[in-house]
Amino acid sequence: MLGRTTRVGVLGAGAMGRGIAQVAAAAGHPVVLADTSAEALDQARTSIRALLDRDVEKGRRAPAEADAVFGRIAFAPLPEGDPAPLAGCGLVIEAIVEDLAVKRRVFAALERAAPDAVLATNTSSLSVTGIAGACTRPDRVLGVHFFNPATLMPLVEIVAGHASDPAVVLAVRALVDGWGKTTVLAQDTPGFIVNRVARPFYGESLRLLEERVADCATIDWALTSVGGFRMGPFTLMDLIGNDVNYAVTCSVFEAFYYDPRYRPSLIQKRMVEAGLLGRKTGRGYYEHGPDAAAPMPLEDQDLGRRIVDRVVAMLVNEAADALFLGIATRDDIDLAMTTGVNYPRGLLRWGDEIGVPTVLERIEALQREYGEDRYRPSPLLRRMAAEGTRFYP
Ligand code: NAI
Repeated sequence: MLGRTTRVGVLGAGAMGRGIAQVAAAAGHPVVLADTSAEALDQARTSIRALLDRDVEKGRRAPAEADAVFGRIAFAPLPEGDPAPLAGCGLVIEAIVEDLAVKRRVFAALERAAPDAVLATNTSSLSVTGIAGACTRPDRVLGVHFFNPATLMPLVEIVAGHASDPAVVLAVRALVDGWGKTTVLAQDTPGFIVNRVARPFYGESLRLLEERVADCATIDWALTSVGGFRMGPFTLMDLIGNDVNYAVTCSVFEAFYYDPRYRPSLIQKRMVEAGLLGRKTGRGYYEHGPDAAAPMPLEDQDLGRRIVDRVVAMLVNEAADALFLGIATRDDIDLAMTTGVNYPRGLLRWGDEIGVPTVLERIEALQREYGEDRYRPSPLLRRMAAEGTRFYP
């Protein structure tokens, strides 16, 4: 159905589309990268060329190979939005603005322009089924969720919509595996695996800040130095952009019918309102200019341990609940978090190391203290603690 010679269309040449186009071209596919904005296409052309040139400089690619990859990408302007240039594609990956109404309109047009193509969306937070519902053939629509930057991040979440043909899902998964990516299968639920399971990393850290347990620098220090995470939550939110992180949190919260477990933080809302978006505006939780003072954490091991215990217990609880609800398999949940957001360990494996009864006790203690449904233990943790079982027997 799909192979190395399949023409791949990528709709949207922004941050994600240009990376996905480069990945497909590097794997040998002829690629059509299309965008309604001529400026976005020009920027994509310049940025892909620069990344390939850097690969050559660093000795990661031969010059002829870089030229061949670049030569396989055709840049197609769509001034009227009509996706006709994608007609000959066997697979089209959509990476345009995160707006359900716009994506539905575009998928209906794509289906007419490329009647034989498999249609994939790179959406982070919308329902694949909701997008596919605009098509007369929803069986060949699925989610293919790359991480930013798509050229470097190994993980791709493959998401079947309600009507996706399992053979199409398998064929796309095999194709993306062949691009050197690590794929996991996720149910079509808000945030899929990573953007759901990672919520407490930010949300619980923001609660700690709100309650004045510690300042940003100390929480970041605790999670990196004591917890082993590659980056602290506040440093990471400043990198991602507080507007982007806040939007994902709000979207997951709304999509779960306002489950308090995912409630966004007022601190983060105020940061967005104040335009303190992080690196891109020069200031977020930290100052980012050349004269910015280095953060001064309070390196208190006991405090650090308490912070890490609370955040990690909430992360393990969320991962356990994703497993309980069949969002993905045990192995895919752990793989998604280590390859999608570089967690030092899979969360379920981490839960085993801490001990499932201990994780449960920590969540129950929070639930007793706050009386909030936010600290609701997953039924799976309760069941496992009662039975004395482990995630990895
Ligand atoms: P972006 O804003 O950088 O790029 C979107 C591009 O789509 C723009 O160049 C725009 O001109 C173009 N576009 C808009 N409407 C179009 C249409 N009707 N036809 C053709 N082109 C159109 O956005 P970004 O960040 O690349 O995100 C794209 C998608 O990928 C979104 O669904 C987003 O949720 C998802 N995503 C984003 C990640 C990120 O970290 N930025 C990570 C993973 C997924």
